[in-house]
Amino acid sequence: MQIKNRHIPIAVAVLTLVAGIRLGTAATQEDQPTDRGKKDFVEMGCFQCHGYQGHGGRAGPRIAPKPLSLEAFTRLVRKPPNVMPAYSPKVISDEQLKRIHEYLKSIPEPPEVSTLPILSEE
Ligand code: HEC
Repeated sequence: MQIKNRHIPIAVAVLTLVAGIRLGTAATQEDQPTDRGKKDFVEMGCFQCHGYQGHGGRAGPRIAPKPLSLEAFTRLVRKPPNVMPAYSPKVISDEQLKRIHEYLKSIPEPPEVSTLPILSEE
């Protein structure tokens, strides 16, 4: 029993090290602008109305994979015409909007309905 107890700090150290390495890897993977854009898209709550992939949801229209030009996109987020809440530069920077825009552009088109095997079966 005593021996086991002495092993606990070692086990904790090993686990911390492993977790640290895994977090480190995750951080490097997140360095892609599109990944950071996705993070902002989620953290800023855009996904709640526009869906995780920007394909449109209950409240917001589809905004991916072909969003408006960056200028029009930024203008719209700063001053939406209707239901959408306005996001001031204090809340979300131009840099973040640019990354979100990159992320939205990187989202693949959904497949053509005619290419779905289940729908072409006789
Ligand atoms: C509360 C729901 C809601 C949230 C949150 C929201 N939107 Fe919207 N968004 C809308 C609605 C609704 C519209 C349609 C215009 C309007 O009603 O103002 C819209 C329109 C847009 C448009 C224009 C679409 C087009 O092609 O005409 C863009 C771009 C956009 N949103 C981006 C964003 C981004 C980026 C975020 C996060 C920073 C965000 N939205 C957060 C609801 C939302």
